[in-house]
Amino acid sequence: MEIRKNKTDVLLGLQWGDEGKGKIVDYLTPAYRMIARFQGGPNAGHTLEFEGEKFVLHTIPSGIFHTQSVNLIGNGVVIDPCGFKKEIESTRISPDDMHSRLLISKKAHLILPSHKLLDAALEYSKGNSKIGSTLKGIGPAYTDKIARTGLRVGNIIQSTFSEKYNVLKKHHQSMAAALGFDVTSFKPDGMDFDLYEQQWMEGIELIKKLQLVDSEILVNQELEKGTRILAEGAQGSLLDIDFGSYPFVTSSNTVAAGASTGMGIAPSAIGEVFGIFKAYCTRVGSGPFPTELFCEDGDDMRKEGNEFGSTTGRPRRCGWLDLPALKYAVMLSGVTKLIMTKADVLSIFDNIKVCIAYKQNNLEIDYLPFEYDDEKLDPVYHTLKGWKTDLRISATFDELPVELKEYVKFVEDFVKVPVYIVSTGPDRKSTIVR
Ligand code: GDP
Ligand code: IMO
Ligand code: MG
Repeated sequence: MEIRKNKTDVLLGLQWGDEGKGKIVDYLTPAYRMIARFQGGPNAGHTLEFEGEKFVLHTIPSGIFHTQSVNLIGNGVVIDPCGFKKEIESTRISPDDMHSRLLISKKAHLILPSHKLLDAALEYSKGNSKIGSTLKGIGPAYTDKIARTGLRVGNIIQSTFSEKYNVLKKHHQSMAAALGFDVTSFKPDGMDFDLYEQQWMEGIELIKKLQLVDSEILVNQELEKGTRILAEGAQGSLLDIDFGSYPFVTSSNTVAAGASTGMGIAPSAIGEVFGIFKAYCTRVGSGPFPTELFCEDGDDMRKEGNEFGSTTGRPRRCGWLDLPALKYAVMLSGVTKLIMTKADVLSIFDNIKVCIAYKQNNLEIDYLPFEYDDEKLDPVYHTLKGWKTDLRISATFDELPVELKEYVKFVEDFVKVPVYIVSTGPDRKSTIVR
């Protein structure tokens, strides 16, 4: 693969997350020397499978299992030290190797235990209109960042850290109390606050032993030297804080522009933009999903695709591929190459539908309107013939069944971007590069 010098390539999800970013970043890592996360935090769950093992990463970039590359947690990420410590341990990478392979931006914000508490209080108080948050403290941590009251990784080595921590914690506790949640008795998901706080502090001690860097300087120095960098998105474009189905979104910019602010690279330093999508759609949590299937087909998709959240274990809502939404996501990020995952899951269907437009008040539209509400948007479908073939026998794109190649062509013609990779299984090896 040819990689442009002095540019950072970006890989990001084009749907509602869980498109298979972790698997593909792990596959592409040998072509890069640095993998960087630029937004999101432990709400992400990126699954990697290789050599009979399975790992789920939340905050650590998905290049961590390759010894030759460095992994950076950029300034745009929010880190929960408690979960982060457990995640580091789950990789079974030795402390010395982790120290040499992982860098953390001093400007990345911290998720406090009280952010988690507040996330749950805010979500519970929404009743039926809840977002379906992963309850990892994402929203409150980004709120503090924007409100200019947050704590950053670089603060943990300063003498004022404890004092700042206690002030912020008290502020969160009084906000939760104002919402009617008494901090001594409120235990969301059985969370024991004191124990969590103790583990959080242990996580802080672990972070202190890692390489804490001025990452925007470092990244630009590396770009200058010609180091090949891949930025790994989290969540998906339809969960973007500005362009997603607001308010049912996450709290960061998940589109390509997020890589610029989340790592400190100029927009002109973005090279290839890999947009990854599932051959169908899934969504966890609340919010509009025009092509959602409530029938047996949806259940079959969930079963065949093992569609249960990597972070929360929640069943994912399933439906047909939504091309106007995909085209919108491609437009927002200037996607140059598409990656289609989970083609194998659709092998069970005789016929496969794709949404090509929506009907809104009897008018046909092929874009996402402000009123993006599944009650008002009726999908218009085109039906393609299924391939009904076990894809494990295909090693090259040419060997794929003709119906699948037609499906790929239909997508390419609609969004006007070529499909570069087709993924046919969760393992690193089940990846077909065109
Ligand atoms: P991410 O958040 O985008 O990294 O995706 P997740 O890891 O949350 O969810 C994707 C799931 O699909 C994981 O369980 C992957 O192991 C699995 N997966 C990835 N690519 C494929 C594929 O091509 N086929 C199948 N069957 N599973 C895949
Ligand atoms: P990856 O990186 C799928 C969803 C949540 C919820 C909404 C807001 O694995 O693709 P938040 O915790 O951010 O307050 O939740 O966003 N969500 C994801 N859905 N994959 C993810 O990440 C997600 N991260 C957040 O389910 O609907
Ligand atoms: Mg995921």
